[in-house]
Amino acid sequence: MARVNDHYLQLPGNYLFSAIGKKVSAYSAVHPDKRIIRLGIGDVTQPLAPAIIEALHRGVEEMGRAETFRGYAPDLGYEFLREAIVEGDYEPFHCQIDADEIFISDGAKCDSGNIQEIFSADNKIAVCDPVYPVYVDSNVMAGRAGVYDAEKGIWSNILYMPCTEYNDFVPELPRKTPDLIYLCFPNNPTGAAITREQLQEWVDFANRTGAVILYDAAYEAYISEGDVPHSIYECPGARTCAIELRSFSKNAGFTGLRLGFTVVPKELKCNGTALHSLWARRHGTKYNGAPYIVQRAGEAVYSQAGRAQLKEQIDFYKKNAAYILQGLGEAGYTVFGGVHSPYVWLKTPRGMSSWDFFDCLLENANVVGTPGSGFGPSGEGYFRLTAFGSYENTVEAVDRMKKLGI
Ligand SMILES: Cc1ncc(COP(=O)(O)O)c(C=O)c1O
Repeated sequence: MARVNDHYLQLPGNYLFSAIGKKVSAYSAVHPDKRIIRLGIGDVTQPLAPAIIEALHRGVEEMGRAETFRGYAPDLGYEFLREAIVEGDYEPFHCQIDADEIFISDGAKCDSGNIQEIFSADNKIAVCDPVYPVYVDSNVMAGRAGVYDAEKGIWSNILYMPCTEYNDFVPELPRKTPDLIYLCFPNNPTGAAITREQLQEWVDFANRTGAVILYDAAYEAYISEGDVPHSIYECPGARTCAIELRSFSKNAGFTGLRLGFTVVPKELKCNGTALHSLWARRHGTKYNGAPYIVQRAGEAVYSQAGRAQLKEQIDFYKKNAAYILQGLGEAGYTVFGGVHSPYVWLKTPRGMSSWDFFDCLLENANVVGTPGSGFGPSGEGYFRLTAFGSYENTVEAVDRMKKLGI
């Protein structure tokens, strides 16, 4: 008799965004006249840049001609894209990454969920708290998380590293030694960035203890300036302890097109086994590659025109973030993030819980954000707003929140 994977049954309640969706639908059903502004889910709104659209068209034409038609992509992804990534994302920052250390995929969500498969089931994972939920849930599904404490909102086998205003939302090195460490900078949900020096401490820690860092740099494009690393491979020693995950979603608007990649340096080994060959095996067995036309679109992200157009797009979202940060700050909110990130993380006023503030904002300002507690226990008392809306909606949402009076 077939049996289900019991670990799935341990997953608590609803996925955060479906819970939000239900609340918003229920409110809209009773108040159909209210115009709700959504600054909750981290999805982009700007259309694809012209250079990307042109590349897609060219790709489609090629697929329609026998002499240029392409079938299955190479296992790692097309070389033209992997070379463009090396030149565009790594060489400028003096990171020593070879094209054949890059695995093209259909996005960082899948990669961040799948990467745990190549590690032993008894590995101990450490996550920032609050955290992008995929890291935790995928480890629950794999049976690595232990038992859920519903009251505290934590799993017994997961090491939670609190990120609060007291440590500038950058975790301290843990006292217990984890095997796998998930880090995400610039961070979702807090919008915090990590300095080169701080990241170097993590790299040194991982090399010292034999841990592997899974570094999610999905928001790298939002880094403004200063001493903030764009890649973990800017830190000496990272090639022997870190895997990096990247996405085309937030830098180029590919949330609906789907493209990402994972970097696994060849020197990175666990018990003498190269993780590169394990991930290559996993990738080759379970994945048949991102579409050719999408990989061509990804290549266009690095073209001269593509870069210029995408810079404008990122600047557009950053302007929204700056507006939220400044407007809410002036209104008396305590606000964080929003500088190297499209996310503003704010402290709920008057000690309200994250969900109470969600309800208050939905009902009194018709603005939707994301309750911080949905990202982990240390997110309680915080709230996330995204800069991915239109400028007009962003301005109106901030004005409505100002009028609320906190
Ligand atoms: C930290 C982080 N990683 C990965 C992703 C997903 O990226 P992709 O669209 O490439 O799957 C997101 C999306 O919101 C994210 O916030």
